[in-house]
Amino acid sequence: MKNTTYIDSIAEFKDKQATISGWLYNMRKGGKLRFLIVRDGTGTIQAVVSKTDVNEEVFALCDELTQESSIRVTGKVVADERAPSGFEMQVSHLELVSKADEYPISLKEHGTDFLMDNRHLWLRSSRQFAILRVRHEIIAACRAFFDDRGFTLVDAPIFTPNACEGTTTLFETEYFGSKAYLTQSGQLYQEAGALAFGKAYCFGPTFRAEKSKTRRHLTEFWMIEPEVAFCDLDGDMDLAEEFLEYVVQRVLKNKARELATLERDVTKLQNVKRPFPRISYDEAVAILKKENVEFQDGNDFGGTDETVISEKFDRPVMVHRYPSAIKAFYMKNDPTDFSKALCVDVLAPEGYGEIIGGGQREDDYDTLKNKILHHNLPLEAFEWYLDLRRYGSVPHAGFGLGIERTVTWLCGLSHVRETIPFPRMMHRLRP
Ligand code: 4AD
Ligand code: MG
Repeated sequence: MKNTTYIDSIAEFKDKQATISGWLYNMRKGGKLRFLIVRDGTGTIQAVVSKTDVNEEVFALCDELTQESSIRVTGKVVADERAPSGFEMQVSHLELVSKADEYPISLKEHGTDFLMDNRHLWLRSSRQFAILRVRHEIIAACRAFFDDRGFTLVDAPIFTPNACEGTTTLFETEYFGSKAYLTQSGQLYQEAGALAFGKAYCFGPTFRAEKSKTRRHLTEFWMIEPEVAFCDLDGDMDLAEEFLEYVVQRVLKNKARELATLERDVTKLQNVKRPFPRISYDEAVAILKKENVEFQDGNDFGGTDETVISEKFDRPVMVHRYPSAIKAFYMKNDPTDFSKALCVDVLAPEGYGEIIGGGQREDDYDTLKNKILHHNLPLEAFEWYLDLRRYGSVPHAGFGLGIERTVTWLCGLSHVRETIPFPRMMHRLRP
């Protein structure tokens, strides 16, 4: 709107008049003064209304304002060391845009279910605001990293004819008389991208019918998935660690204020520098055994196992070469030990669990075809994918980073549900 100043650039208006358009976050009263805490989406500022400085109607209007009423305040911007923004406003005029009904979210504590039911309003709270600003920075950093390194964005489809990550978590939908599935991962399409563009990536929503109610699983989450031609598992791990270091250091630099709001201990994140430790699945199992964790060799790691392993390190740890029996059909076997897959999971420190899954892909036509059959997957749906091994197959590798798990970790949250504007989980489809 004309003449509006945003709070994040209020410094330019020091000792000058400005108008802020926003919402009333909170108000304190004191004799002839009213202290309005106004937020405008870029920050908050205290606007002080003094009975001696404004006309009677304006002062009376203050007492009618309700939490989250939309307002425009005009006044002189003055420096104030105690203020979070470094400034406050001495109000000369106040305009009510729309008076809010009694706001359901007060500044006191509420239960999570209640807040989730009111997610469309909860987004306005300072913690949620900070989390989603960190999310934005993570996504911007992910894209910039690959854009700056010559990767081409190759968008993967959301309706797919086949599974990528196992058939148990597929969302099925009717598709003009036949079946389609919501994508679990853009990877298979990214392999086509890598063979066309050398280095490719996609970024989009992915879906898994996760029936488990854990603090790490959503049914709809966002993934960034790079894929590189002429790349092996070691090259893939090099890329993953360079990428994670970049994302974390950029968030620390650009979102310090938000991390402070979240009371995140950033010293834990400052360690996220290359090289990351690389251990094999067998070495990870040995850690569990040493810690007396009950674990069946050959199984996949559960959340608690991952926590025990990651607690041994002060930065992300890359666990490679899991048993191929528990991994997806497209993974290439280790030529030196056929029972293992050339894959890697990156586990975040501090018990935040797996944030990246990836590895080298099976590039041999016959081996891949047998794997598809062995996994009881419908061959016709994968003919196009096999073409990538028919026409100029090369060693190639890639990975997927889950955005929400990364936000959970960087913000230091206990549950993934607050890391996406409108979370989708088994028991949550609204708002
Ligand atoms: O390990 P995943 O299943 O790997 C893949 O989908 C590969 N096709 C990616 C690739 O190589 N291009 O998933 C990758 C990441 C996980 O490490 C995790 O961060 C996240 O996606 N993820 C989830 N995040 C939230 N909710 C869920 N249900 C998730 N499932 C996976
Ligand atoms: Mg995984």
